[in-house]
Amino acid sequence: MDPVRNPYAPGAGQRPPELAGRDEQLRAFDVVLERIARGRPERSLVLTGLRGVGKTVLLNALRSAAVRRSWGTGKLEARPDQSLRRPLSGALHQAVRELGHPDADHVLGVIRSFAEREAGHDAKLRERWSPGIDAPAVRGRADSGDVEIDLVELMTDVGGLAADLGRGVAVFIDEMQDLGPADVSALCAACHEVSQSGLPVIVVGAGLPHLPAVLSASKSYSERLFSYQRIDRLTRAEADRALGAPAAEEDAAYDDDALAAMYDATGGYPYFIQAYGKTVWDLAPRSPITAADVAVGAPEAERELAVGFFGSRYERATPGERDYLRAMADAAPAEDPDNSVGDVATADVASVLGKKPQSLSPARDSLLKKGLIYSAERGRIAFTVPHFGRYLRRHG
Ligand SMILES: Nc1ncnc2c1ncn2[C@@H]1O[C@H](COP(=O)(O)OP(=O)(O)O)[C@@H](O)[C@H]1O
Ligand SMILES: [Mg+2]
Repeated sequence: MDPVRNPYAPGAGQRPPELAGRDEQLRAFDVVLERIARGRPERSLVLTGLRGVGKTVLLNALRSAAVRRSWGTGKLEARPDQSLRRPLSGALHQAVRELGHPDADHVLGVIRSFAEREAGHDAKLRERWSPGIDAPAVRGRADSGDVEIDLVELMTDVGGLAADLGRGVAVFIDEMQDLGPADVSALCAACHEVSQSGLPVIVVGAGLPHLPAVLSASKSYSERLFSYQRIDRLTRAEADRALGAPAAEEDAAYDDDALAAMYDATGGYPYFIQAYGKTVWDLAPRSPITAADVAVGAPEAERELAVGFFGSRYERATPGERDYLRAMADAAPAEDPDNSVGDVATADVASVLGKKPQSLSPARDSLLKKGLIYSAERGRIAFTVPHFGRYLRRHG
C-alpha cells in the first residue's frame, strides 16, 4: 500500500500514531497534578519496563499533560557516569522559563550556581556549564558541593516560585536507572523534602524494571515517594487498536486473521507492533490487510529488527559477554523459551557455560552496566530487551 501514507512509527521515543493502552497512567497522572497543585501530598509516578514497551513516549505524553495545565516542565535522560547537576539544571531552567514568572532571576541564579558547582574553581568550565542562563549565579545557595543539600535548596526555591504562581513544576527523568548512587539518594531526599513542605514540584521517572530496587536500595522511604507503574506489552484488544486506529485514519483496515497473526508475531510489544505494522503495510497490495500479507511481511520486519533493534545492542557486547548472553538464552525455562517475561538464575547460566559463577561476574557486571541485562532480584538476571532470547537462538 502507499508508503507515503504509512502511519506507523517504529523507533526509540517515536510518538506512535495511537497511544494504546495507557489511559490508566494518563488518568492517574492527572490526579497527581491536580492534587499537587492544590498542595496535597501525592506520590509521583515512576514508569518501569523493558526496552521498547513505550516508556519514553508515555513520559513525553505525561509531560504534555503537565504543559496543558500550564506547569513548568523539563526533561533529561540520565547517562551512566554522568553527574546529575548539568542535565538537571538544564531541565529546571527550561521549566522556570515555561512558568514565565516576571521575577525569576533569583531562582535562575540558584540554578546557575547549582550547575556551576560541578566545575569547581575552573572559571572557563563554569562559563561553559551555565549555557543560556542570563541571571548571575547566586553564591551560597545550592553550591555547597554536597549534592543532597544543594538539590534540596534548589528544588525548594524552584517550588516556591511555582507556588507563587499557583502552578507546579515537573521534571521528567528518562533512563533513571543510570543515575549514580549519590544522585539517586539526593533526588529522593529532595523529593521527600519538597513533598513535606507541600511545594508543587515533582520528579517523574522512567527506567528499566530494576529501577524500584535501585531507588529503595538508596532510600528506604522511596516506596512512599513514588507510585511504580509497570509499563508492559499491550493486550490483544489494545494491540488491535494500536494497529487499527491509525489504519482507519488512512481508510485502511485489517481483517481478523491478520490482527491475530500480528499479535502472534509481536507479542503485543509496542516497538514490534510499529515495526511489523510499518513493513506489512508497505508490502501489502491492498486493504484490508490479510493474514497472508502478514506472513509475507513478517520475515522482512524480523530482518529489520534483527539489525536495528537487537543487533545494535548485541554489537555492544564483547565476545565473552556474547557467550554469556547466549548462555542466558539457553538457560531459559521451557515455558518461556523467548525469555520474554521470565528471568534466569545466574547459577544456571554458569552451569550452561560449565564455569564457576564468580568467574563470570566481570561479564555479567559489564552487561548490567551496558543495560543489556538487569537484575531485579539477587542471583537472577533477565534481558532488558523482549524476545532477545529468541533473537539469539535464531541468529547466534
Ligand atoms: N502505547 C503505545 N501504543 C502503540 N505504540 C507504542 C506505544 N508506546 C510506544 N509505542 C511505540 O513503541 C516504540 C518504542 O517506544 P519507546 O517509548 O521508545 O519505548 P521505551 O522507552 O520503553 O524503550 C516506538 O516506536 C513507539 O512509537
Ligand atoms: Mg526509552
